[in-house]
Amino acid sequence: MPLEIENLTAKIRILAVDDDPNVTWILSDGLSESEFVVECCNDSQSALAKLATFRPDLCLIDIKMPGMDGIELLNHIKKYDPSISVIIISGHADTPIVVQAVKGGAEDFIVKPFDVEMVEICIQKVMEKKSLRQRVRSLESELARQSLWSHFVGESPQIQHVRELIEQIGTTDLNVLIRGESGTGKDIVARMIHQISDRNRGPFVKVNCAALPPDLLESELFGHERGAFTGAYKSKPGRFELAEKGTIFLDEIGEMPPAIQATLLQVLEHKEFYRVGGTQTIKVNVRLICATNVNLEKMIQSKSFRLDLLYRINDITIHMPSLRERPEDICLLAHFFLNRYYEKFGKTPQPLSAESERLLMEYTWPGNVRELESLVKRVVIFGEQEIRHNIEKGRDDMLLPKEESPAGGDFNPAQLPDAYFEGKTLKDINDNVMGQIESRAIRLCLEHLGWNRKKAAKALGISYRCLLYKIQQYNLQKEPAAAR
Ligand SMILES: Nc1ncnc2c1ncn2[C@@H]1O[C@H](COP(=O)(O)OP(=O)(O)OP(=O)(O)O)[C@@H](O)[C@H]1O
Ligand SMILES: [Mg+2]
Repeated sequence: MPLEIENLTAKIRILAVDDDPNVTWILSDGLSESEFVVECCNDSQSALAKLATFRPDLCLIDIKMPGMDGIELLNHIKKYDPSISVIIISGHADTPIVVQAVKGGAEDFIVKPFDVEMVEICIQKVMEKKSLRQRVRSLESELARQSLWSHFVGESPQIQHVRELIEQIGTTDLNVLIRGESGTGKDIVARMIHQISDRNRGPFVKVNCAALPPDLLESELFGHERGAFTGAYKSKPGRFELAEKGTIFLDEIGEMPPAIQATLLQVLEHKEFYRVGGTQTIKVNVRLICATNVNLEKMIQSKSFRLDLLYRINDITIHMPSLRERPEDICLLAHFFLNRYYEKFGKTPQPLSAESERLLMEYTWPGNVRELESLVKRVVIFGEQEIRHNIEKGRDDMLLPKEESPAGGDFNPAQLPDAYFEGKTLKDINDNVMGQIESRAIRLCLEHLGWNRKKAAKALGISYRCLLYKIQQYNLQKEPAAAR
């Protein structure tokens, strides 16, 4: 049976490189009859010069040539474009040379004297493997894309608009800023943009700028050299280097300290940087996506965020709508999560009652999709009554008048309206009141310590991780000084 790539052979472009003109002549003559497009060079330098103009799919390279030898040429070609296949043709097939060629990325090795038909079969095999690899990769990325897209639920016009925007900008290399309240799906959208872009075979690297103390964030982003600071026992590449040819996602960009904002600006402008303690510039080719749930404009007014950086990171903005702005998606998402968690927890699916759906629709969802997802998990485990509990608790939080709430001014439980206590267990009341006291205590401590989370965790006597969890649980946010 003819090889599967038969219809491609006419287009396979071959660059033959050998210092012996007889060899290149034989290859050119023999292969051209087989409808390959062949160009020849008799030294490595002119072969390198031809890469850009001829754009070969495959190179046939001799090893022993005056000047740059075949192994060095192979390395240059693979550096220039790793997708160019290379077959070595050599009179010397001793093991060290073959090993070097394979290590350098050569796909096959032919020993002289050769038969042109054999070279032809070898080329076809290499190209067939290459085409299969490409097909597998494109199927894999299509599968990943479909799975991500089918897990992004929502039929509201706002979500449809987000999908359209992602499709439009995905294949560009523009920097994207995703804005929206916590739990609205910024993370998922960042991954979708990477997945739809031409960089989807490259890495997607996420850094949460709020999760690391400022001194560690810089070395995490840009890497460090050995001895750059106490404890830097080894050199380490930063996340920018790890994201090469892919996408870097800087979450909670508003939390980035000003000194690192200045470095990031430089990196975006010059596409190069130094590791911490390093003296060599490192070039980067990454696409930047940032996300934030804070008002960056207010931070600019209070001089805690740079205006020039905002312009740089924000070629395009995607606004993620809150869940209360798109009520038509609430039940859709609830059913999507119910299916997911009934299956995950191995339980028999139970339909939601109309009353529960009504309650879901009436609630205002301050924690957005994340809050809904977490409620659905509890429904699957404990039953449908969780919906009423959750929503009543949420309403109570909002019912507490601001000046009487523990999160606001002085808290005086004696002044709570009688209606507040109706139909509640003591546990409900305790959870609610203690939660509010705790949230206020954490907020005050963070403000007092300039939002230094490490110090705050120590002062509060809890672990750093526990503090991060509570900040998220109570949706605590750093407010810019001017806005307070
Ligand atoms: N449209 C959606 N369809 C399905 N799941 C969603 C959707 N939006 C969000 N989610 C889920 O809700 C949870 C929270 O979403 P995500 O982490 O993307 O929010 P976020 O905006 O990044 O929040 P934060 O600002 O707190 O980082 C995740 O588990 C995510 O998978
Ligand atoms: Mg997020």
